[in-house]
Amino acid sequence: MTDHAERFALLLHQGADALRPGDAISPAIVPSSIFHLPGSPEAPFQYGRYGNPGWTRLEEALGSLEGGEAVIFPSGMAAIAAVLFSQLKAGDRVLLPSDGYFVARALAERFLAPFGVTAELRPTRAFADGGFGGLRIVWMEVPSNPGLDVCDIPAVVTAAHAEGALVVADTTTLTPLGLRALDHGADVVVAAGTKAINGHSDALMGHVAARDPAIIEAVRTWRKYSGSISGPFEAWQVRRGLETLEVRYERMCRNAAAVAALLAGDRAVQAVRYPGLPGDPAHNLARAQWNAFGFMVGATFEGEAAAEKFLSGCRFMAESTSFGGVHSSGERRARWGDAVAPGFVRLSLGIEPTAALIAEIERVLATL
Ligand SMILES: Cc1ncc(COP(=O)(O)O)c(C=O)c1O
Repeated sequence: MTDHAERFALLLHQGADALRPGDAISPAIVPSSIFHLPGSPEAPFQYGRYGNPGWTRLEEALGSLEGGEAVIFPSGMAAIAAVLFSQLKAGDRVLLPSDGYFVARALAERFLAPFGVTAELRPTRAFADGGFGGLRIVWMEVPSNPGLDVCDIPAVVTAAHAEGALVVADTTTLTPLGLRALDHGADVVVAAGTKAINGHSDALMGHVAARDPAIIEAVRTWRKYSGSISGPFEAWQVRRGLETLEVRYERMCRNAAAVAALLAGDRAVQAVRYPGLPGDPAHNLARAQWNAFGFMVGATFEGEAAAEKFLSGCRFMAESTSFGGVHSSGERRARWGDAVAPGFVRLSLGIEPTAALIAEIERVLATL
């Protein structure tokens, strides 16, 4: 039995040992801003901005999957902000991927720079070039979104730790099923639960995971003081979504592999990026370090018109931003200003039956 099989089985029976006859198997949503707090304020729950039983349940589940302790936030960006703002001080330098999720860079440039924190940028593929001397945080995105490039995580970790830097990995696109970055030496994992962890595109969530209690204490305190908190309902929704992550993920990755192979052999597609394709620049590292190749595929069509025709023509492709849902989705990333070709489309493959999805994509490709 693999390690994550046991973790998932445990997750499905989380809390069972505390059940008394007649208790609900589905955990309760506790919509309370206040808790019974007579006399001493020492209690598991004190106030709605400090904690909620539903947060704890989700954090225990995520912590078990990541192999550390987890703290939830109301979105992936809130988790990213919690790490940056709790770990950096004036005069610090942070290295971010120039080809990663653009809002993380924008946050650092707009709101950290005025406090004297310098953000430096490097492409993921050449992330270790130039070394990590003098950096406080080395921030990887594995793989980079949307280009799906990779860097060698243990090599970055060893070199960055030798310089005294903290290593953070955003593993949103892989989820802890695809990559447990803490096991590869990263100090901190951040991820948007908004995507595959919840998986149904109906809630936003994020988490930070780490093994160092000082880091966990700092991000928890950031949450408490900044008020960057999730609602009890969203925490319940995302924990429920998590219960099916393992089965969803398997189908999503299988669909991505099938779609990538189809696109790679089609004359209407100029280039395909999928770490699972043997010729992909990310393939060797991904095969060595990840547990799965993921559910995202990058495809470059001749231009904007062909890409839009592909997206709008496909009945099983939601035209939306974001990714990781049960429904396949896609968009042209150039529309957000990412440094990609106008005909580059980022696809996130969902759980549609593979044969139906492939037949539909074949039909649409024949119209291009
Ligand atoms: C890699 C990555 N990290 C973080 C985020 C932010 O997540 P959220 O939209 O939940 O704030 C995103 C959003 O697309 C993302 O792609």
